[in-house]
Amino acid sequence: MRLLSLSLRDFRNVHEARLEPSRRSTVLVGPNGQGKTNLLEAIFLLCTLRPLRATRLAELVRFGAERARVQGDFEGPGGTRSVAVEIGPEGRTAFLDGKTLSSSDRLDAFFEGRAAVCFSPDDLLLVKGGPDQRRRFLDRAAFNRWPAVLSEARDYLRALRERNAALRSSSPEVEESFREPLVRAGARLVARRLALVAELAPRVAEAFAEISGPEAAEARLAYRPAAGIPVDGSEEEIASRLAEALVHRLGRDRDKGYTSAGPHMDDLTLALGGKGVRPYGSQGQQRAIVLALKIAEIENLRDKLGRPPLLLLDDVSSELDPAKNEHLLNHLSALPGQAFLTTTDRRLLEPAAGDGAVFYRVRAGTFETDFPPVIPGS
Ligand SMILES: Nc1ncnc2c1ncn2[C@@H]1O[C@H](COP(=O)(O)OP(=O)(O)OP(=O)(O)O)[C@@H](O)[C@H]1O
Ligand SMILES: [Mg+2]
Repeated sequence: MRLLSLSLRDFRNVHEARLEPSRRSTVLVGPNGQGKTNLLEAIFLLCTLRPLRATRLAELVRFGAERARVQGDFEGPGGTRSVAVEIGPEGRTAFLDGKTLSSSDRLDAFFEGRAAVCFSPDDLLLVKGGPDQRRRFLDRAAFNRWPAVLSEARDYLRALRERNAALRSSSPEVEESFREPLVRAGARLVARRLALVAELAPRVAEAFAEISGPEAAEARLAYRPAAGIPVDGSEEEIASRLAEALVHRLGRDRDKGYTSAGPHMDDLTLALGGKGVRPYGSQGQQRAIVLALKIAEIENLRDKLGRPPLLLLDDVSSELDPAKNEHLLNHLSALPGQAFLTTTDRRLLEPAAGDGAVFYRVRAGTFETDFPPVIPGS
């Protein structure tokens, strides 16, 4: 899968723009606040239909404009596809080859393996933030791996809302009819996350060792369910344990008015040499493990799906010490896929951009290509 061209209209601070990315690395260079991350956000939206950092889709519409539009031509196994996303007062609409995607269309068929993985300084929240951050990572990564996870996760949230409402209703027997759908959808989601963690864990350990050197402690990634769910069980076993946990907690859950067990309460453990990275890891170790996690995801997607995801690297080089930056850039240059990198300092990325890199200068929401490189040593 390759992004051949990209057009934006009234998206964030971009009035109108058209870009032709490189087959390999496209580097966006510009001072703070010019629209570099906005462009990554547009690509992420096209690949996933989700906002990268916006909490409300309306934030993506340029101030004073009615609707935003992003369109991209992707070359994939089935030929070239035009994908577009519009955001207007009515919400989000997706188009595939000019046809509106309706809610009954299968979303996994729509994606056809288009996937994007983003690294940004915010990703440190994966370590420093609460469990919701780690669940979000897991579900995004599971969705990249198995697009059906998008609708499965929605099914779970719907079942959860319905059971929570039933817990608060006056007739106790109502809850029971909402328990079964919750258990089924919950077990499916936990099984997906467990399968993903099993694929990623050895790759995280390996990538962390590569970044941090042979002396470093071993990195470990593990799924941590909130309530007695077997981490090596089948989907059926998970379902029966989840059902037991819900029955066991019924009184408490009724008092509180919400469901206290299930994938919406689970967490991911990141440890170094058996010690939690959040309480004990240094700043640099925290960065390195997040990087290892993302590298693990990319390598896993490349091996399992036979094609690497689009890589979006937001201002990553300025966050890393030179050795880690070099490791990261070497690693990227060995990947066959397409990458988009942002920087305020072109020199940080100049050596790594490789053959066929395209540089765009970003200024106030405009993108200008072919500007002269910095003279070495200047
Ligand atoms: N809906 C919107 N309409 C118009 N402008 C917007 C909108 N949302 C954000 N902006 C503007 O976009 C700019 C930020 O763009 P962006 O985050 O892409 O910057 P950047 O180039 O990545 O900068 P940095 O190097 O600081 O990360 C800000 O000036 C902000 O005011
Ligand atoms: Mg930015």
